[in-house]
Amino acid sequence: MKLTSYPEPQTGAFAFDEGNMGRVERILKRYPPERKASAILPLLDIAQRQNGGWLSKECIEYVADFLEIAPIRAWEVATFYTMLNLKPVGKHFIQVCRTTPCWLRGSDELTQACRKRLGVGKGEVTEDGLFSYIEVECLGACVNAPMVQINDDYYEDLTPDRLVEIIDRLENGEAVPIGSQTERQGSAPEGGPETLREMPWLKKGAPEEGDLPDYGPQDTEPAEARQEPTAGPADKEKTDTPDRAGPDAGPQSGSDALDDKEDK
Ligand code: FES
Repeated sequence: MKLTSYPEPQTGAFAFDEGNMGRVERILKRYPPERKASAILPLLDIAQRQNGGWLSKECIEYVADFLEIAPIRAWEVATFYTMLNLKPVGKHFIQVCRTTPCWLRGSDELTQACRKRLGVGKGEVTEDGLFSYIEVECLGACVNAPMVQINDDYYEDLTPDRLVEIIDRLENGEAVPIGSQTERQGSAPEGGPETLREMPWLKKGAPEEGDLPDYGPQDTEPAEARQEPTAGPADKEKTDTPDRAGPDAGPQSGSDALDDKEDK
């Protein structure tokens, strides 16, 4: 039952395709039926991907109708989150991070490089529909600033020249390595790690015997010798009584023995 009156959504031509409908159904299973509106973010994301990277009015209102909520509730979400685009984007959608660490490391120059190379302003799409770019706030890869996100991938440790080279290669349909463009290992300092250097498995995968540091003599006591004897019913009765120091009390733990010593 709908609790408020609202205009009928204009869902137009948009509808989840067969593949996405399967994804949507899997997502909806995470929520109780009466709380399915909580799935709005992943559903808007799916709609955006199916619609070429942006949400039209039809998409937003289709999702609202699908979740049986007022269209305004879907609009509230779609207009709040910056990762939901409300106008068309290029096939390669470049998001230039401009927050302080990236800005200090040259994000302004990256934005200028986009403008110069693509010949369009922020938020505009190139004539061939291949590229558009915007500026965004921190994308969480500050250690390798400056960086951009292109569709779902991060390109880090950028210079304007390297960004132009990446755009050229994407335009030609060539593969571009993602992540650090200076081959930095993770977020290690330039030139390689300066700590924890003696961990050869970092380079070749899982550690093997002999890779591990020598921690001195190992405990060679057989495993069975270290196991506590299993208490039988009679023993259990004794250990449950306060007087555990009797001759039949069985093995004592270290703290039990210490308690007994102090008693004497
Ligand atoms: S400031 Fe650019 S990723 Fe954080």
